[in-house]
Amino acid sequence: MASTNLHFLLKWFMLLALFSWVHFPSRALAIGVNWGRMASHPLPPAQVVQLLKANKVTKVRLFDADPDVLESLGGSDIGVIVGVPNTMLRSLNSSLKAAENWVHDNLTRYVSAGASSAVQIEYISVGDDSFLQSYGKQFYPFVVGAAANLRTALIKVELAEKIKIVIPCSYDAFLSESGLPSGGQFRTDINKTMSEVLTFLSKHRSPFFVTISPFLSFHQTKNISLDLALFKQTARPRNDSGKSYRNGFNLSYDTLVMALSSAGFPHLDVIIGQIGWPTDGAANATSSIAQDFIRGLLGHLDRSGTPLRPQTPPLETYIFSLLDEDQKSTVAGNFERHWGIFTFDGQAKYQVDLSHGSNRLVNAQNVQYLSSKWCVVNNNKGMSNLTAQASQACSTADCSALSLGGSCYNLSWPANVSYAFNSYYQQHDQRADSCAFGGLGLITTVDPSVGSCRFPIGLRSSLSAPVDRSTMFHLFISQVVTIAILSCLMRETW
Ligand SMILES: *[C@@H]1O[C@H](CO)[C@@H](O)[C@H](O)[C@H]1NC(C)=O
Ligand SMILES: *[C@@H]1O[C@H](CO)[C@@H](O)[C@H](O)[C@H]1NC(C)=O
Ligand SMILES: *[C@@H]1O[C@H](CO)[C@@H](O)[C@H](O)[C@H]1NC(C)=O
Ligand SMILES: *[C@@H]1O[C@H](CO)[C@@H](O)[C@H](O)[C@H]1NC(C)=O
Ligand SMILES: *[C@@H]1O[C@H](CO)[C@@H](O)[C@H](O)[C@H]1NC(C)=O
Ligand SMILES: *[C@@H]1O[C@H](CO)[C@@H](O)[C@H](O)[C@H]1NC(C)=O
Ligand SMILES: *[C@@H]1O[C@H](CO)[C@@H](O)[C@H](O)[C@H]1NC(C)=O
Ligand SMILES: *[C@@H]1O[C@H](CO)[C@@H](O)[C@H](O)[C@H]1NC(C)=O
Ligand SMILES: *[C@@H]1O[C@H](CO)[C@@H](O)[C@H](O)[C@H]1NC(C)=O
Ligand SMILES: *[C@@H]1O[C@H](CO)[C@@H](O)[C@H](O)[C@H]1NC(C)=O
Repeated sequence: MASTNLHFLLKWFMLLALFSWVHFPSRALAIGVNWGRMASHPLPPAQVVQLLKANKVTKVRLFDADPDVLESLGGSDIGVIVGVPNTMLRSLNSSLKAAENWVHDNLTRYVSAGASSAVQIEYISVGDDSFLQSYGKQFYPFVVGAAANLRTALIKVELAEKIKIVIPCSYDAFLSESGLPSGGQFRTDINKTMSEVLTFLSKHRSPFFVTISPFLSFHQTKNISLDLALFKQTARPRNDSGKSYRNGFNLSYDTLVMALSSAGFPHLDVIIGQIGWPTDGAANATSSIAQDFIRGLLGHLDRSGTPLRPQTPPLETYIFSLLDEDQKSTVAGNFERHWGIFTFDGQAKYQVDLSHGSNRLVNAQNVQYLSSKWCVVNNNKGMSNLTAQASQACSTADCSALSLGGSCYNLSWPANVSYAFNSYYQQHDQRADSCAFGGLGLITTVDPSVGSCRFPIGLRSSLSAPVDRSTMFHLFISQVVTIAILSCLMRETW
């Protein structure tokens, strides 16, 4: 009897799984995330992988080839892009041997490991936005040579069919003088290299890999309204040779499509390697605006492409970013440290549907924090040297939330100095001497956070959280239940 029941249940589940598959033929549209690790206390890789699985993220882009990270992805079904940092491009261009070593150390052993620990590496991304105008000629002249050597190395180990090479292209590598897609072209200063890139990609049937940044378009050039960037129905459309543009995404994407066409490569597939909206450190960088943007984007990707590429949405789209990174350069702006959908400690900042159906994000589990202690200004001491101490703290700590438009900009003096002290103290693992500040610091157990300005507690850095079996089982069950519920809902609509 019991076994018949089980049999029945199994059949039912299989039927439901089939229903959901039939219902989502276009769900092949893959959504991934960028997993950057420029943080003073990064969340341990095993916990991040758990976070990806809990949120049913199926693709991830890495910026390097860190062994701990790759090992933690072993045995998962998550598709991986492994990154080659800009600083390695020069040697990979000039030496095939260097490329072979890179493939040997950073690829082969992960790809060819047994099924229980193999990593599903799908792409190597060569360089990290090496065409950014602010980099000048530091990196991009090496990118095609490096890509070619890596490909030769891949052929040698018979991985060239399985793993494709892509070359990340920055948001500012293409533009349109008129502000309309019909004027799309690549920057003239990168013309020669870009032609080589396109020839390489086309020859090896690799997609064009690009950053699209409506936030930066809005923030830097102010030539696109916030409504247009955020997919608002009320946005004033732009007309371009009979085509109407109602959102900044369609505008940017078709500007790129036109640039590809006018360079002679109209049919290259496109992967959006980075797209997102920051939540702090600048005006209009807030969680609620970021939520509007990501929701608009995800809703839009389900639909039918853009005016210049109808029915052909990007092959894959990687949201930038998974987690906040407190060590990212703020040269471009203080918002650079706040691109995460999740805070540095894996807590959702807002709610979006990353996984086709579940409307809530799942937070990181079993996060190991330091103690509930903060470092603040001791109000009983003379304050004369406080400004010098604050700027010293901010020179290494993360004070980006204090900048104009940031979540802690409204803190009055000396509470803003307390913020700086605390950031420094947490970054130094709450060591007592990191709250000295010439006698002006005071360790407290009372949370100084005010309103939306949060004084974070740091992560315990040396602990890698064990993945316990009950959590895994729980995850499995919740996925089965989600599929079941989804399928029931769909049957209702039939
Ligand atoms: C890339 O390497 C090749 C082969 O060593 C070399 O001829 C070329 O000058 C290098 N490119 C640059 C930009 O240095
Ligand atoms: C493998 O990748 C890591 C991280 O990007 C890098 O430090 C290392 O030099 C690479 N190995 C080789 C042989 O290039
Ligand atoms: C901004 O967009 C408008 C079209 O709405 C265009 O006329 C103008 O040239 C653009 N400016 C820049 C700097 O792209
Ligand atoms: C764009 O064209 C449509 C008709 O094709 C027109 O109704 C609309 O006013 C135009 N919008 C702008 C901003 O010119
Ligand atoms: C480079 O410039 C030439 C001549 O203007 C043009 O034909 C070609 O399409 C340009 N290539 C790219 C990648 O923009
Ligand atoms: C962006 O933020 C600024 C400062 O908060 C605000 O004045 C402005 O209205 C915002 N921009 C838009 C288009 O809402
Ligand atoms: C973007 O372009 C596609 C294809 O033309 C269209 O279906 C979609 O509605 C456009 N998005 C918006 C918000 O205009
Ligand atoms: C003020 O702070 C700076 C930076 O920490 C330190 O070098 C200097 O000695 C301090 N001056 C006094 C009077 O405490
Ligand atoms: C800061 O204060 C201004 C004026 O009091 C207010 O409009 C703004 O919303 C506040 N910003 C934050 C992030 O609390
Ligand atoms: C704190 O606020 C005061 C007064 O508004 C300002 O002069 C100072 O630069 C701020 N300090 C920091 C670290 O933001």
